[in-house]
Amino acid sequence: MAQEDLFKKLIAHCKEYGYIFPSSEIYDGLAAVYDYGQYGVELKNNIKKYWWDSMVLLHENIVGLDSAIFMHPTAWKASGHVDAFNDPLIDNKDSKKRYRADVLIEEHLEKLSEKIEKEVEKARNRFGEKFDEALFRSTNPRILEISEKYEQLHKRFVDALAGSDLAELRQIIIDSEIVCPVSGTKNWTEVRHFNLMFSTEIGSTSDGAMKIYLRPETAQGIFVNFLNVQKTGRMKLPFGIAQIGKAFRNEIVARQFIFRMREFEQMEMQFFVKPGTELQWFSHWKEARMKWHRALGFGDENYRFHDHDKLAHYANAATDIEYKFPFGFREVEGIHSRTDFDLKQHQQYSGRKMQYFDPEINKSYIPYVIETSIGVDRMFLQVVAASYYEEDLTGEDGVPDSRVVLRLPSVLAPVKLAVLPLVRKDGLPDISHRIVDDLKFDFNCQYDEKDSIGKRYRRQDAIGTPYCITIDYQTVDDSTVTIRYRDTMLQERVAIADLKNIIADKVSLQEQLKKL
Ligand code: GAP
Repeated sequence: MAQEDLFKKLIAHCKEYGYIFPSSEIYDGLAAVYDYGQYGVELKNNIKKYWWDSMVLLHENIVGLDSAIFMHPTAWKASGHVDAFNDPLIDNKDSKKRYRADVLIEEHLEKLSEKIEKEVEKARNRFGEKFDEALFRSTNPRILEISEKYEQLHKRFVDALAGSDLAELRQIIIDSEIVCPVSGTKNWTEVRHFNLMFSTEIGSTSDGAMKIYLRPETAQGIFVNFLNVQKTGRMKLPFGIAQIGKAFRNEIVARQFIFRMREFEQMEMQFFVKPGTELQWFSHWKEARMKWHRALGFGDENYRFHDHDKLAHYANAATDIEYKFPFGFREVEGIHSRTDFDLKQHQQYSGRKMQYFDPEINKSYIPYVIETSIGVDRMFLQVVAASYYEEDLTGEDGVPDSRVVLRLPSVLAPVKLAVLPLVRKDGLPDISHRIVDDLKFDFNCQYDEKDSIGKRYRRQDAIGTPYCITIDYQTVDDSTVTIRYRDTMLQERVAIADLKNIIADKVSLQEQLKKL
């Protein structure tokens, strides 16, 4: 199936099974804003807990924070967001559609590199085992031609971004003959800056209302509280502050479902270190964060680092952890070495010292910062995309059958087990309810007695429930049940008394955290 079709099915699946709904759908929705349904909220909470515990529980020197969404507007002046949190936008005059100029160019570059890979694949098929890929890449005239085009364009692009050269960005679009995907024309406007922050007013006009912003990142709430936490927690460098919370960006290109939203959630950790040690800590957190992702078992080959071509105004090193989504490798998390930029700026704009007194050298200084920043929603999409499978189950009898299954890691699954009486009579529902009452303190359980057992299994597969417990007539006699495993569909007979232990082991967050 084409990856695009797969992605469309995934979006439909999320809606049909109570994971994600378009916001205010009865009013035709609001672009790039989504609501999480009954299963979505559980999965989201489990992702957040996995992140939070991996930071705050596992590290003595990382503590949490929950700062307000609204901040004093000067904080955003200091951070650089008022002046520099811009995207370059361009409109197509025929379709009246608006695009990010940098994204149009990036997509064009991606097409060029896909062309190279296609040539390599074609040659591999043609030459079979004799194929020398390195030689082919370095000598084939077609590949050399595309590679040169790519390199030239890439350099122009990086330079234009670094110099915020909007005219050059437009020129690259013109020279590369990039067309509007809707109108198919090259009738482009100039490129303009567009600030991504939402603003509102605080206080009534008669009081003298003040323009404030909805935070575009949670990080600044951490920076302005750096000394509060350090002093009250008697924290010594290096130490970190972790926070989960909403962020808002007026994204121009809001596509790809919950990949790019206007209201989203971030999980950010700022790690304060002694100046000069920041690049060591940058490497440390790069590896630690990659391990966190890979520990979920979606295949190491589906992740990669992507070092930034253009460093943000505050960074001296930056990388993304990318995952192979159905629409290609894309960023899930950013790791940035932010130097002392933010604390220094806040010190300057607030007039308050943002320094740490280092008892080891008897001196005060502004610490450097390593940031790990991951979007909850983007992580959610990554998990769901990696878990979504359509399986053909046609057996030896030849009767066609299939299922859609979410192979979610058990530790993240919204419902851990479903308790299903085989029939709705003869005391089976009573036994089922007793099992739920016993296990509900430990796991998110679901009771379901509607429809045939086959249909109920399929429904639980679609939700991603890792274990189904079926209560049948034998249960009445010997207090055993069948446990059905979602991924293998194998069934085992086990004692009711053993259920808790069997399941606890498999869905335990503790066990997951021990992998880190
Ligand atoms: N404090 C640094 C910062 O905010 P970022 O790279 O802009 O850095 C960090 O964002 C992460 O937040 C991204 O890797 C992504 O997972 C998530 N994110 C950013 N913008 C988003 C959006 N519009 N919708 C969903 N997630 C977003």
